[in-house]
Amino acid sequence: MEQIHIRPFQPEDLQRVVSINRTCLPENYPGLFFMSLYESFPKAFIVAEDIETNTLIGYVMGRIERGFSSLKGYKLTKKGHIVSIAIIEEYRRKGIATRLLEAALEGFREYGASESFLEVRESNIEAVNLYQKIGYVEKKVLPGYYRDGEDALLFTCPL
Ligand code: ACO
Ligand code: ZN
Repeated sequence: MEQIHIRPFQPEDLQRVVSINRTCLPENYPGLFFMSLYESFPKAFIVAEDIETNTLIGYVMGRIERGFSSLKGYKLTKKGHIVSIAIIEEYRRKGIATRLLEAALEGFREYGASESFLEVRESNIEAVNLYQKIGYVEKKVLPGYYRDGEDALLFTCPL
């Protein structure tokens, strides 16, 4: 897929990213939320673009949070939270989410984070497989995490 470019999000991408998020996921956010992540953690907000058709086809965004390490006892640490990732349907299963995540994890490392975490619906097999393939491991279940009552799985990964 050499016509797919992975690059940092730019403000001009906002409408398209919001639209991909609404099409692909039930967890949606106002435009200002996307912009605040971009302003605070631009290295962790990455998009995939089909340069043949000049369209964005996926995004990942994340933020750095401080908290107790999930991997090293009670140590306070910086953690890279993958907030949302999606690839439009026609472009799935071509390794694009993997490339996006790897770029976001590199951004987290540049911000000094030593681990990453995320939540995913327990029924979301595609995403669970993706995270496990990249090296995330299931840490615990978060009962009733989603608005519709579904449980989340909390995944963590060393950086
Ligand atoms: N069935 C089983 N495993 C899958 C599938 C699938 N349909 N799709 C991906 N995987 C797993 C496989 O292990 C795959 O490796 P392989 O192809 O070598 O077997 C691995 O994930 C990597 O696949 P990619 O091609 O990199 O993933 P893709 O670009 O297709 O994107 C994603 C995966 C983001 C989960 C996509 O299906 C999507 O956008 N889904 C809807 C939105 C979503 O669920 N986002 C995650 C929510 S959780 C969160 O945002 C923190
Ligand atoms: Zn989250």
